[in-house]
This record gives sequence, structure tokens and C-alpha cells, in this order.
Amino acid sequence: VGVLVAAVGGGFAWLWTGADVNTVGKEPFTNRLAVPPLAESTVEKDGTRVFDLRMQAGEKEFKSGRKTPTWGFNGDYLGPTLRAERGEKVKVRIANGLDEASTVHWHGMHLPAAMDGGPHQMVGPGGKWAPRWKIDQPASTLWYHPHPHGQTEQHVQRGLAGMFLLDDEKSAALDLPDAYGVNDVPVIVQDVTFDGAKFDHGHDFLRNTGFLGDRTMVNGTLNPYQEVGDELVRLRLLNASTARVYDFGFSDDRDFALIGTDGGLLEKPAAMDRVQLSPGERAEIVVRMKPGEKTVLRSFPQDNYGGAWQTRFSGGADSFDVLELRAKQSLRDSPELPVQLGELEVPDGSESAKERFFGLKMSGINERPMDMDRIDEVVTRGTTETWTVRNDDGMPHNFHVHDVQFRVLEVNGEQPPPELRGAKDTVFVPGATTVKLAMRFDGPADPDTPYMYHCHLLSHEDGGMMGQFVVVEKGQKAGKPTGSGGAH
Ligand code: C2O
Ligand code: CU
Ligand code: CU
Repeated sequence: VGVLVAAVGGGFAWLWTGADVNTVGKEPFTNRLAVPPLAESTVEKDGTRVFDLRMQAGEKEFKSGRKTPTWGFNGDYLGPTLRAERGEKVKVRIANGLDEASTVHWHGMHLPAAMDGGPHQMVGPGGKWAPRWKIDQPASTLWYHPHPHGQTEQHVQRGLAGMFLLDDEKSAALDLPDAYGVNDVPVIVQDVTFDGAKFDHGHDFLRNTGFLGDRTMVNGTLNPYQEVGDELVRLRLLNASTARVYDFGFSDDRDFALIGTDGGLLEKPAAMDRVQLSPGERAEIVVRMKPGEKTVLRSFPQDNYGGAWQTRFSGGADSFDVLELRAKQSLRDSPELPVQLGELEVPDGSESAKERFFGLKMSGINERPMDMDRIDEVVTRGTTETWTVRNDDGMPHNFHVHDVQFRVLEVNGEQPPPELRGAKDTVFVPGATTVKLAMRFDGPADPDTPYMYHCHLLSHEDGGMMGQFVVVEKGQKAGKPTGSGGAH
């Protein structure tokens, strides 16, 4: 139990008696896990797959008899799972049924900047926006969420988020569990606090990590369980929380196979018993079950936020029961996991044309708070770069880059651990940490429309921990940022 006495303004003393949050064993798993429906789509004459997503206000009974005001896509809370194949052209018709402006960003997607759904592609209340692009990246677990500058935390917390799964021929040919919702299960983890029926999104006054809830839910289900009918079950873990970092593992410490990271499958499965995910990161894991047994996906206390005090202060010492897996009495046989999975398409840094440095502080990246009218970095199309990202204030941060997947070359000068050896678009950068990343910019040049890089602890992002880069043709100059989307 941490106790902090701090003198704040005029000598008032505030007492923080922040007991670590611990939900382990506290409540039974009474609710069957909701699985987001697969989004319906139509195919246009030229082969474009078309989805419809409508942002709307609603209410949901998370606890029986209590209606919580929420936002969702095509429903009350969260959104359907979009699914498309590499090589396909997709179009998503967005309708904003809210009474405020927002955006829809495709986290992890390689696509033209004007389709990215960042803060320059605002969709006004009642407005529409229909981005289209061609899927040109490996099979992976991506996601979508709003990105209005200064309000992303709030819009995501109210319920606007969903998964976007990509498939490709190579992944389809592998013997991996792939029955959606059956042995291939989306696991969208969020932390929440309820104040009666309503969400309480208040920040602890002394914790500047952002919002930290006192319990978790998965796919909008509290106390969830999932029945398992196969020996092997694949979980697509997404940390869709706004500030909390989880260290996932199982209640009996069993090993699982890590098969994929943010941007797709690893080269080989890695046996692990923990996988840490900061906000925005994903991991695909495969767990082996025995007939009739139960195990609980848990988040365990952590110790690597850059010091014991910072860890405790930022929720790292908290524990959660996340999801119970219940194996049926008789299980379908599963084939052994393939020895070889994907081929990484992220660069190894050897052809890097440019190095950049990013210093992370709550007050801004490289000492500059976000400015929608300022382009911070200009990148040449078709080149590989090495980005060094350093935590400069000891607070927990992470680093997310739009449009690309990167390879983590080093963490504090050392080889990264297995969960950072795949394609990544977001990486945890706790206190006293420096990471070195390699990425290649292959998208179309657009000197006027920036992509974002930012801390994905959303209150940090909203508070200015974000910068903008444009991709240009060799020798071309950056233009002036324009809002390029959203008929209002
Ligand atoms: Cu998931 Cu720029 O965000
Ligand atoms: Cu993103
Ligand atoms: Cu941060």
C-alpha cells in the first residue's frame, strides 16, 4: 500500500492512500464472454469490399438493472470486427450519429495519410466520411478507434473501439486455430470504474498516468468466461485501455505460445508465461487446454516502470482476473502449432537512410507539445529510417507510429525480448528506457497530410505528447497541414 503525502498549492496536504487494485478471486465469472460480431460487407463491381460504421450514443447493461450511457459503432458499445484480405480494396462508410465531431483511425494500418483517420480527418456531427485503400500488409490483428485531438481518451472510454483483422494466403495455409469466436477469440481488455450505473472516468488527482480503472472487462463483458471446445485456443489480446499496462499470464502460470504481435505473425511461436501489453498493443497467443479444466487469464503485478515507486504509482502493482477459460469435458483434437509461422516484413535497419531522435516527456515530444499546424518530421518515400525513442521524464509512456510497422532493434542497447521481436506499431517505453526502431516508409507521398506519432497513454496524447510527420518524394518540401476528410 502506497501512502503519499504531498503539499499542493497553498500548503494543502493531500493524502493518497492508493491501495493496489486487486480483483483476483473477488467475484465469480458469471457472464459468457460477448464476441463482437463480424461486420457485414458488400462487394462493389471493381471488387472493393465495403463496410458501414456508424458512431452512435446508446446505453448498455454491464450490470443487470443498471443502464450505463455509452457510445458504440453500429451498437451500444465497441464495434463489429472488420475483416479483409491482403490485396483487397476496402472502403468504410463512416457516419457520425453523435452530437460531436470525431474521427475513426485505423491503428496499425498501412494506408494513405488522408485515409488514416487522424485528427485532420474530423467528421462532424451528422457527417459522413468514406476512406478507401488497398490492404497491403501481412495477416494481423489491428484495431480502430477515434482520434480527435484533445478528446481521444474520452471518445475511446465511452466505447468507440473495434478490431480490424487482416488475413493473407500464407496465414490461411497455416494450421492455426481460426474459427472466429470459437477457437480464435478477440479479447479486447479495458479497465473501468463504475459510479452507480455510470462510468467514472475521473483521474486520480496525484496519478498523472491518466485514467486507471478498478476492474477490467473483456469485449464489454464484466466477469467473463469463455467455453473452450478445442485443445488449442487462440486469443487475440488487445489492450484497449487508455493508460493501463497489463502483464498477461495464466492463474496456474502455464506456458502459452506467443504467435503474433501488433503487425502480424512471428517467425516462430515463442513459449512464454507472461506477455506485457501497454495501451494500443496486441498479442496473439495460443493456449493448450485439458478436458474439463479451468484457467484464468490474469494481469500480474509488474516492476518495470522505471522504479518501484513509479510502478506502484502508475498502477503497475495492480492485479486483475481478466477472463476465465472453461474447457469442455471432451475437446476436439488440435493440430500441433506450425514450427514456422510468418516472414517478418519489417526492416532490420541495415539500410537505414536517416536516424531521428525522440525524447518523451509528458509536456511534449522533443520538448514540443503537439501543434496541428506544425509538421515535425519530413520523411522521404521509399526509405528506411532508424528512430531512437527515449523516456526523458520517468513517467510510463509508450510510442506509436501511424502508417508503418517497425522492428524493435534494441531495448537499452540489448536484444529485445520475444514479445518485441515481431512487427510492432506501438512499444512500451517506461522510465529509464531507450528503444531503437527501424521502419520503412512505403506509402504514397502526400506533403500536405500528416501522420501522427504519439504516446498511446491517451491522456498524454490528448495533453500534447504527439507529433506529425509527412511522407514526401525525394527533394519535395512539406506543405501546410490541411484537414482533408469529413464532409461536415
Ligand atoms: Cu491507436 Cu494514433 O492511435
Ligand atoms: Cu494508430
Ligand atoms: Cu505518455
